Amino acid sequence: MKPFRYVAVLGLAAVGAYFASQQMISAAPPAKPLSSFDPQAKALLAQMTLDEKIGQMTQPDQESIKDLSDIERYFVGSILSGGSSDPKEGNSLQAWTDLYDRLQQHTTLTRLKIPILYGIDAVHGHNNILGAVIFPHNIGLGCTRNPALVEKVERVTAEEVRATGIQWAFAPCVTVPQDIRWGRTYEGFSEDPAVVKELAGPAVRGFQGTDLASPLSVLACAKHYIGDGGTSFGSTRRGQGLDQGDTRVDEATLRRIHLQGYISAVREGAASIMPSYSSWNGVKVSGDKHLLTEILKQELGFQGFLISDYNAIDQINPNYKTAIGISINAGMDMAMVPARYKEYIADLKQLVEEGVVPMARIDDAVVRILRVKFAMGMLDTKRSQLADRTLQKSFGSPEHRAVARQAVRESLVLLKNQNKVLPLKKTAARIHVGGKSADDLGNQCGGWTIDWQGKSGEVTPGGTTVLAAIKKAVSGKTEVTFSKDGTGAAGATLGVVVIGEKPYAEGNGDRADLKVAQEDVDAVANMKSAGIPVVVILFSGRPMILGTVLDQADAVVAAWLPGTEGAGITDVLFGDFKPKGKLSYAWPRSMEQVAKHPGDKDYAPLFPLGYGLTF
Ligand code: GLC
Repeated sequence: MKPFRYVAVLGLAAVGAYFASQQMISAAPPAKPLSSFDPQAKALLAQMTLDEKIGQMTQPDQESIKDLSDIERYFVGSILSGGSSDPKEGNSLQAWTDLYDRLQQHTTLTRLKIPILYGIDAVHGHNNILGAVIFPHNIGLGCTRNPALVEKVERVTAEEVRATGIQWAFAPCVTVPQDIRWGRTYEGFSEDPAVVKELAGPAVRGFQGTDLASPLSVLACAKHYIGDGGTSFGSTRRGQGLDQGDTRVDEATLRRIHLQGYISAVREGAASIMPSYSSWNGVKVSGDKHLLTEILKQELGFQGFLISDYNAIDQINPNYKTAIGISINAGMDMAMVPARYKEYIADLKQLVEEGVVPMARIDDAVVRILRVKFAMGMLDTKRSQLADRTLQKSFGSPEHRAVARQAVRESLVLLKNQNKVLPLKKTAARIHVGGKSADDLGNQCGGWTIDWQGKSGEVTPGGTTVLAAIKKAVSGKTEVTFSKDGTGAAGATLGVVVIGEKPYAEGNGDRADLKVAQEDVDAVANMKSAGIPVVVILFSGRPMILGTVLDQADAVVAAWLPGTEGAGITDVLFGDFKPKGKLSYAWPRSMEQVAKHPGDKDYAPLFPLGYGLTF
């Protein structure tokens, strides 16, 4: 082989090796397994009283703690902010950070000074905090099919979470929704377990990094184990909808569809997992020992701890104390008991004293929790556990927003582009913008934004609506006009109509009918009546039944719930970037199709899983 070519091959080999090593490093499991912290965890456990142990297994909501001395009185090991549980001083970066510090300082008044883990639903950015960057919800990230981008999104989210001191995110949601009538469809990456498996690990790595002790690492929480997205319509306690219902499949199917994200998350070292409210064949998952202990902890080797969902233990049995015993003995390690924390503590102590819950189970739960706290450097007395406020300079920064803007771009799925109406020209004489969501940041962000359910309107500062983004993108000579109902478009070069769902979360989003709203149909029709090309952008937490909208539109873009960075949409509308999103949920032709999947007879989606046009 000629020397030059030989050297060239060597060079290529070196480059290849470098990238492989990078890939290996980023794909390698975390530096130290959690069990390597057992010596310290067990030494600390040996010093603990039963009250101190049970305190570590208790997680109240900050808004329920009326007397902060309850933290030291009950040796509380963790506190959460559930949806809408803001500091009473108001919702600002400083108020949140002061709240965290104030609560953390109370743990220094206890004998053992074990710091609290503060948990929050940072499910698409640090979405409780005004001014935070709000990312696309998981349904959009699933359409990117870009693991490295998903990791970057969660890395930035982790940094904004840490800017408030908080060190635990109840994310990623690795649900695999099988019926898009479910109000939590948008929290899932995909209906396809392979897509969820591919993205779950990188998402965990984004939050946790490869070293949980890093001051930028945030404890991840894969949720909701298992089968939360597989429930049957009408199987809920109220007898309608899907949320918190019953998943009626055999174990092989449960594993094939709903376990894949956990396999990936556990391999990546996810250090907490949240069992689901839902049931499997009539048994509450949060009380099922086969699922929580035998499969997750023994078979998959999960070494972290299980945190129950919000009051989920209450649903296991009408008798609260009995429910607690069932859940803890099944393998639950920490209870999210927002308000009933005193009752939970008293009941669990009695259960141990009565021998219903063995001390060995308590010790196992506490060692699991302490392993994580040691791994996160929380027991390192040389290290402050208060917030690092220097991180606040990057909170909501242009650099963070640029990552979200890229995620928006790559999440968009082009469903139709008749006569190549897209990309639009920035020099068009006049663009008429219409639709209820064209200038509505709240609709653009969806649920879990500032408030639990989200809300329409000016939901948070620092964002960019589609209307604002269009105005910014076009030339100085282009006129941009707007009407919510799409009227007044006559004479415009083209029309852009932004429609879709209003914000919701969890069961409040369960729908029996997914047709787009009449006001949206009317806005598109009004725009079309001007005889101009019409581009429709759909904000939704799932595919919807488009009806005449699809026929009347020249182009249709599924934008999901993109978050604050609306310029990511105009980046594609005007052709600065090509659309590359691929459907992570099949798009049903009709309501009869929504619960059908590949392999079902007469399965005939309008647009199949993986569909997406480009320029
Ligand atoms: C909610 C959700 C769960 C969330 C928890 C805390 O009800 O089911 O996803 O992490 O409570 O807000």
